[in-house]
Amino acid sequence: MITLGFNYSQMHDSSACIARDGELLFAVAEERISRIKHDAGFPRHAIRACLEFAKVRPDQLDFICQGWPAPGKVFATDLKCFLRGQYPITYLNVLNSARLYASMAHQNGGFRSFTTLFGPTRAQMRFVDHHLAHAISAYAYSGFDDAAVVVMDGRGAWEASSIWYGHDGHLDHVLTIPWPNSLGLFYAQFTQYLGFVPNSDEWKVMGLAPYGKPGVNLNEFISLNHESYRVNAPLLLERSNGTSAIAKQLGPERMPESEIDESFKNVAFAVQDACEAAMLALVKLATQKTKCRNVCLAGGVALNSKANGKILASGMIDKIFIQPAASDDGVALGAVLAPYMDNGGRLPMNPLRHAYLGPEFSDSEIEKALRTYKLRATKLDHVAATTAEMLAAGKIIGWFQGRMEFGPRALGDRSILADPRDPEMNAKVNNAVKFREWWRPFAPSMLKEVAGEYLEHACDSPFMILTNPVRPEKRSIIPSVTHVDGSARPQTVEKDINPLYWNLINEFGKRTGVPVVMNTSFNLRGEAIVNTPTDAVRTFFSSGMDALVIGSYMVEK
Ligand SMILES: [Fe+2]
Repeated sequence: MITLGFNYSQMHDSSACIARDGELLFAVAEERISRIKHDAGFPRHAIRACLEFAKVRPDQLDFICQGWPAPGKVFATDLKCFLRGQYPITYLNVLNSARLYASMAHQNGGFRSFTTLFGPTRAQMRFVDHHLAHAISAYAYSGFDDAAVVVMDGRGAWEASSIWYGHDGHLDHVLTIPWPNSLGLFYAQFTQYLGFVPNSDEWKVMGLAPYGKPGVNLNEFISLNHESYRVNAPLLLERSNGTSAIAKQLGPERMPESEIDESFKNVAFAVQDACEAAMLALVKLATQKTKCRNVCLAGGVALNSKANGKILASGMIDKIFIQPAASDDGVALGAVLAPYMDNGGRLPMNPLRHAYLGPEFSDSEIEKALRTYKLRATKLDHVAATTAEMLAAGKIIGWFQGRMEFGPRALGDRSILADPRDPEMNAKVNNAVKFREWWRPFAPSMLKEVAGEYLEHACDSPFMILTNPVRPEKRSIIPSVTHVDGSARPQTVEKDINPLYWNLINEFGKRTGVPVVMNTSFNLRGEAIVNTPTDAVRTFFSSGMDALVIGSYMVEK
């Protein structure tokens, strides 16, 4: 059976993936191909890439599954929220809601767009409820026989958070906390208050939080209750005379790109603290309801790596799997398996050991791009050793190898790499390459074998989605990847999963005694991570990187 899954809500992060007999073959977010960050358009490029990779014609597909419900369900939820006073009835809100409905209804949730673009297909077309798709994307790839599955995001159609019990390839629904009682909404509104882009820049708030101090009271906006949490959505969404309720209580909003004073840092601290408490409460509830201590997380809120680290260290759970594409791009990974649950069927349970699911480019394709740009490149005999040598000499390297990662993190195939021992490297990479905010931490990739030497509560962490405390004696050894609060968001690299990247880190370790590299995504600020050799070359020459190692080639400036 060949199934295609996609995410298309017109909100953010459209994506597509393809599976054969339950095995995931390929996945890519639309933004990587269209080059529009968080692209919310119909994922035409992503779908085409899936079909080409799998060498499948549209008429050979058995199922096409969209991880978002039929358009009417979203609109009906909006209307209910308006009538109940949970959602302010303003001209703009009503117009946006009606416009989204009309557009999605016209496209039949994307299925009409599919046949228009790709021609007729005998495939069955299927809407999959959004949180169910998220839940499948966590449980089916976790490798756990049974698990408490927690989904937390901005919104589904009617869902804000949900709990599921995964067992024996089945997913039982346990409870849903309805929209707009939403942790994602809470975090997004404060992201906007702090002068960043909501549903995009939540990382920045998380990175800023440790610079703040306790003391800001957010109880009116979010609180814990006997079960889990309660978000005061009407208040968060309230705006009168252009001023939000948040600004009325905490002072004027921060202007984008302006200085960040102490009061904003303290708000970031309080937002992160409240979100962690709510997530812990929800996970506790899930473990109580399911009587299960293996936990799976998905939904955009589960990208909060700091909170995830606290959940792991809480003692409440035994094992954790967080879908690396926890945001809506990952919904495609759940939707694509949904048909297996028909008639009481079981989900195929294939543990996701890596996220290298995207396009790959051969040396000859790379050569072609280098020739087009008339670049002088050196063919390397020892890619890992030569690159390690340069990293040890303080060079900042663009590293383009193998299949592109699926999900928001670069994990050693589309990465910018540097020496984590240099305390100035954080600033150097920020100034020369990433042009991003000074407070955002960079992350380490380390050999799996040494994780315990460097980290407290070390565990397999292949996806950079959990933070751990760096051992106090190691903080000065890898200062540029240790955050101000002593934490790091590591990737543990396994030899059999990514041998080239493992070798590179190992070679760096042989030269420096530190088998750890600084790894940040291969993109410029505000742009999507590079996909093709052309993207890589363009980004390389738009930044202060010293060298580009692309396939077997090295280009230097
Ligand atoms: Fe979602």
